[in-house]
Amino acid sequence: MRMRPILGNGLDPHAGVTVYLRRMEPTSVLVVGAGGAVGTALADELLPDHEAGRIRLVATARRPESARRLRERGIEVRRLDLDEAETGGLDAVLPVFDGIERVFLLTGYDVRMLAQSKAAVDAARAAGAAHVVHVGVNAAPDTTIVHFAWHQLVEAYIERSGLGYTHLRPSAFMQSLRLGVEQPGVLTHFVGDGRPNWVDVTDIAAVAAAVLRDPAAHAGQAYDLAAESASPHEIAALLAEVTGRPWRYRPAEPEVFYRRMTAAGGDPVYLACVRNVFERTRNGTLTDPPITDHIERVTGRPATTLRAFVLRNRELFDSGEALSPAR
Ligand SMILES: NC(=O)c1ccc[n+]([C@@H]2O[C@H](COP(=O)([O-])OP(=O)(O)OC[C@H]3O[C@@H](n4cnc5c(N)ncnc54)[C@H](OP(=O)(O)O)[C@@H]3O)[C@@H](O)[C@H]2O)c1
Repeated sequence: MRMRPILGNGLDPHAGVTVYLRRMEPTSVLVVGAGGAVGTALADELLPDHEAGRIRLVATARRPESARRLRERGIEVRRLDLDEAETGGLDAVLPVFDGIERVFLLTGYDVRMLAQSKAAVDAARAAGAAHVVHVGVNAAPDTTIVHFAWHQLVEAYIERSGLGYTHLRPSAFMQSLRLGVEQPGVLTHFVGDGRPNWVDVTDIAAVAAAVLRDPAAHAGQAYDLAAESASPHEIAALLAEVTGRPWRYRPAEPEVFYRRMTAAGGDPVYLACVRNVFERTRNGTLTDPPITDHIERVTGRPATTLRAFVLRNRELFDSGEALSPAR
């Protein structure tokens, strides 16, 4: 909470001196990446707090269509392209963090996430923010998966920044399963018989919102966010059971994923890392860490299971549209 003097009502005629009455201003929370998959779900979580005056929600957007969608929901939007710090210096992004106390930091599927995250942390610190909640990835501490290592390096940078922090480490997003539905009844995936861990994006947002409401209770913590492990075979069987229609798993080469996503404009450096995750999950040299109870511990409700996710999002599996590119 920040205190602000209210000058208008400040004159006390009896005392003959100016009395500053103070009004409590809601804590300002900046959501970086509010137009993306996690950010949209987080805005859903925090909007009621904003409307009730418990927080002041500010969102960043890079693309005009992201900004428009957020403004239509009554959310204050500040334009932010973290890449502009490269040529414009930190001053190019600093004003976005002005007056912000708590920062939710997420970057996209791009090797530039390293420099983007550094610029965001430096700007948050320079602007006087108190706490950063960062979305990384769930991985073994000694992982050799390259983009997982990037996330760990960003976490280490945050830890030495002097800012309060909470690390969120999600597993594969359940929403990304939709990428593999090119035709109803066929689930394509690239991990062979591997059994990745899965998390619903709305659970990530619920954890992030809980931390942003009360960062002191979560300072210095790292939360591994996953509900359960499942192979694409098991998920296809679940889809059949829930939808009452036949589903089958079609295994595909990780290279197919890489070619498709780069052809669609994705960053080849990041996507090569994802291809490696698929290859190593398939050949058994990469397994996800054990599942924890962190989602339930922070939100007070159990993590969303794959079954609950499919039941709630049946329509995702009726079309072949893509939602979220990769891990
Ligand atoms: N998919 C998975 O299974 C998975 C699993 C674990 C961890 N993760 C991590 O989750 C993160 C991605 O989350 P997501 O799916 O929510 O991403 P997303 O939907 O691609 O959204 C990315 C957001 O970042 C913003 N952004 C991109 N470049 C920016 C820049 N230069 N300056 C400022 N903002 C920028 C975008 O803004 P605009 O909307 O304005 O473009 C967008 O709001 C990544 O760090 C990834 O490693 C993903």
